[in-house]
Amino acid sequence: MTGRVAVVTGGTRGIGGAISEALAKNGYQVAANYVGSTDRAKSFQERTGIATFRFDVGDFEASREGVKRIEQELGPVEVLVNNAGITRDGTLHKMSFENWDEVIRTNLTSCFNMCRHVIEGMRDRKFGRIVNIGSVNGQAGQYGQVNYAAAKSGIHGFTKALAQEGAKVNVTVNAVAPGYVNTEMVRAVPDKVLEKIIARIPVGRLGETDDIVRAVLFLVADDADFMTGSTMSVNGGQHMY
Ligand code: CAA
Repeated sequence: MTGRVAVVTGGTRGIGGAISEALAKNGYQVAANYVGSTDRAKSFQERTGIATFRFDVGDFEASREGVKRIEQELGPVEVLVNNAGITRDGTLHKMSFENWDEVIRTNLTSCFNMCRHVIEGMRDRKFGRIVNIGSVNGQAGQYGQVNYAAAKSGIHGFTKALAQEGAKVNVTVNAVAPGYVNTEMVRAVPDKVLEKIIARIPVGRLGETDDIVRAVLFLVADDADFMTGSTMSVNGGQHMY
């Protein structure tokens, strides 16, 4: 059992919830961040025993405070999974600035905010495992998602740049790029659009959260220290990259 402190942003439901639970089962002390529904986070905490922390990862100062609270309660952050993400789909000619900005802030600026507040400690202690959750839609693009694709694509560049900075001090930085996974976010895609997407997935089905969890557990392991700056694509063969 590792006992290492792991933060999962957007960690109380969907892919993030599954990652939090798997890390806890594997002996990590998990802090599951959330910002939306307090009731749902409360029931997650009651069901799993995992500590939850409410703050907006898109806000630099709120993230600083959030990391501070986590470190006071659990100890220095050694593992960070930047998972928080939202969609505001729509074609560019109909997209508002707010729908652009909110997605960039929540999905991409959040990676900067969270990494910035944990990186100095990781560098000093010469240990850190950062996993950023990208997306097949950041790799391949997707109709109706200029905001989301730009943010997720940004995550892949961010990962490769920070990996170079952390390499000498045993701070690895990798990305996992999920395909279409059976979560609320994907179930919100209109049925007729989703059917067409599934038809293009060679494995012939949506992914399950456990498919993504497996990749994250691999990357955060203490002995995964030679793997950095990589992207693990878990997408049923939808995009081979
Ligand atoms: N490629 C080309 N054309 C497409 C298309 C595609 N992928 N998708 C839709 N179109 C076409 C439609 O066929 C339609 O053309 P016609 O009018 O000639 O029939 C036209 O674009 C308009 O389509 P809609 O009726 O769907 O337009 P809308 O304005 O009502 O909705 C939309 C647009 C909101 C983008 C909607 O198509 C949609 O929700 N698409 C799904 C986007 C998506 O995949 N989001 C992923 C969310 S999950 C996620 O992001 C997780 C992850 O990481 C994978």
